[in-house]
Amino acid sequence: MADLVAINGEIFKPEDARISVFDRGFLYGDGVYEVTRSYGRVLFALEDHIERLYRSADRIGLDIGMTREELSTELYRIHDAAQRPDRYIRVVVTRGEGKINLDPTTRLQSNIVVFVQDVPAFDPKLYETGQDIITASILRNPKKSLDPNVKSGNYLNNILALGEAKKRKAHDAVMVSAQGHVTEGTTWNIYMVQDGAYVSTPDDGDILQGITRKIIRDIIKSNGMKWVERFFTPDEMKKAPEVLSTSSIREVMGIRTVDDVTIGNGRPGPATLKLAQLYKEYVTRYCKERAR
Ligand SMILES: Cc1ncc(COP(=O)(O)O)c(C=O)c1O
Repeated sequence: MADLVAINGEIFKPEDARISVFDRGFLYGDGVYEVTRSYGRVLFALEDHIERLYRSADRIGLDIGMTREELSTELYRIHDAAQRPDRYIRVVVTRGEGKINLDPTTRLQSNIVVFVQDVPAFDPKLYETGQDIITASILRNPKKSLDPNVKSGNYLNNILALGEAKKRKAHDAVMVSAQGHVTEGTTWNIYMVQDGAYVSTPDDGDILQGITRKIIRDIIKSNGMKWVERFFTPDEMKKAPEVLSTSSIREVMGIRTVDDVTIGNGRPGPATLKLAQLYKEYVTRYCKERAR
């Protein structure tokens, strides 16, 4: 259960939070969202998440109805109202409530809903063992369809992919593009290690450009390590010595198996562990500089 939920600025106990059944987010997934977390009392990479939220909204012609600065102040106000450190913060912006029809051009008042709750806990063992994933049979939608780089409320592909993973007794799923390339996990980006380089699907490769991905790219480059962006297939990935995943919530986590094929020696390797450590150090530095 969340600590609290804010709807258009009004803070509710989670059990009292209500939104209209005519809300287009509910009816059509017609909205955008962001997830970040606080370390202590600092909202991590907030500027990047806000920027991505506005970019997503812009791509679907949704007016958020407040400035980036106002939203930033608002998120801190709501976060602080929970009076607890280390929170998960989800902000959902929908196109608002209207008649039941698809027309997105009617001017509606957006609804902004913010959830503050515990960071969903991964079993700490998973960071030592890595996760078992499958390649889902459902494809990642191409960017000429609903661009995966728009973080919209429309996650059915990802939900179905995760459902398939659970049926196959795996932890999670990665999705492949119509061209047969690895794109991304259900809520995370994926990388393989090859010839000492971290290899990632290119920015324009039917993926959400993760904030964590952007940060680790900077970390890798500034530490003189190799970063390569190119397309690769699941078969190629299964032969890599290491496969790893990132997101704001999971941070950096190794992958143990893909479709029951063991990656490397079946444990997160040195490149994964090193990056996980460098990421933690980056987070610590970031939060220290912004301590409040
Ligand atoms: C589909 C998808 N890809 C990647 C990510 C990772 O993004 P970030 O690093 O910004 O958390 C997410 C996060 O929710 C996601 O939903």
